[in-house]
Amino acid sequence: KGMKTYKVQSYEDLSKMAAGVVVEEIKENPQAVLGLATGSTPIGLYEQLIRDYQQGKVSFKNVKTFNLDEYVGIHRSHPQSYYQFMRKHLFQSVDLSKNHIHIPNGQAEDPKKECERYEQLLQSQGPVDLQVLGLGVNGHIGFNEPGTSFHSRTHVVQLADSTREANARFFNSKEEVPKQAITVGIENIMESRQIVLLAYGENKQEAINRLLEGEVSESFPASILTQHPNVTVIYG
Ligand code: GLP
Repeated sequence: KGMKTYKVQSYEDLSKMAAGVVVEEIKENPQAVLGLATGSTPIGLYEQLIRDYQQGKVSFKNVKTFNLDEYVGIHRSHPQSYYQFMRKHLFQSVDLSKNHIHIPNGQAEDPKKECERYEQLLQSQGPVDLQVLGLGVNGHIGFNEPGTSFHSRTHVVQLADSTREANARFFNSKEEVPKQAITVGIENIMESRQIVLLAYGENKQEAINRLLEGEVSESFPASILTQHPNVTVIYG
């Protein structure tokens, strides 16, 4: 369908190609709404975007950003909060305006209400023009774990054990990994005008193969992307 796939030889190539897609989007539309992802995979993309910004090739002055997800129950000053992650890897180094940055608030007293707030923000400022996605080893996108409805919208999730294990390396122990998160839903992701999915490394091969096989099933959340009109998969 609308899925273009590129196999790259190195992580650097993946990052450069992904940055190319983002920069092109912002050139076409300086007020673009970007959907952003965390995880180790897009770090190289963000580094490249910072370089492009420093060299005057792109400005984020009028760009708006919406992050996919955030842990519930850790303070946003916690080094492993996605808020800090984004600050460290992108926001502090480019000219994004503070009030254009949106991340679910993981310490909201009522996480369900926070989902409603975020959903309304997305409705009023969206749709997302370009969504950057990573890929969980179990096929999760954002924090939409296997079994999540394709019709899901912003919601609170229980993290799969495998996901907590995969992310434990960033914490002192698995016990410290939050058990819940707020994530935009699969329907929100599918509403983006364009999607670029990044996956790199040995441990992602199985998930990539399954995605490229094309069977659509809620047991493998990323598989819905094959039904989207404009997806670019960059992997290696
Ligand atoms: C995390 C994030 C996802 C990310 C995925 C893969 O749990 N919530 O948005 O895509 O895991 O992470 P990594 O790129 O580090 O493999």
